[in-house]
Amino acid sequence: MEAVIVYDSVTGNTRAAASLIADALNRAGIDTTVFPVTAYNPESIAKADLVLVGSWTDGLILAGQRPGRRKRFTKLPDLTGKRAAVFCTYAVNPGKTLDKLTKVVAELGADVVGGMALHRNKLEEQADELVERLTGALAR
Ligand SMILES: Cc1cc2nc3c(=O)[nH]c(=O)nc-3n(C[C@H](O)[C@H](O)[C@H](O)COP(=O)(O)O)c2cc1C
Repeated sequence: MEAVIVYDSVTGNTRAAASLIADALNRAGIDTTVFPVTAYNPESIAKADLVLVGSWTDGLILAGQRPGRRKRFTKLPDLTGKRAAVFCTYAVNPGKTLDKLTKVVAELGADVVGGMALHRNKLEEQADELVERLTGALAR
């Protein structure tokens, strides 16, 4: 199975999360490549079975949270027939960021099988947890 991770990041947390998730997926035998959302390889996405999409949380800390630079994700290619998962990083409270990111990815045609918000200070443990959950969901 092949996976692609596309992410957006300003200060590096979501990039680090993407890299940790890729490491854990590769350890689980899923061949994974990582791209910033503005520089993805369309061929890699076209041949991937699983697409992970990761954003940072933008908002007023405790209100109005949303995927940062959400529009960038709407420019991803059609994902019909692919399974997808979403993740976001946050500082205090992600609010509905994951739901909003799920909506974007579902509108691209993907079947979104899971998602997780990762606290920016707990990326390592939560990246592993995301991959454990995801491999469980994919096995079902
Ligand atoms: C403009 C701005 C708004 C933010 N708003 C929120 C917020 O509403 N809630 C929250 O928990 N974190 C918020 N954060 C924190 C970021 O989501 C968090 O630090 C994230 O890990 C940054 O990811 P990045 O390093 O990949 O850019 C905000 C950060 C920025 C720069």
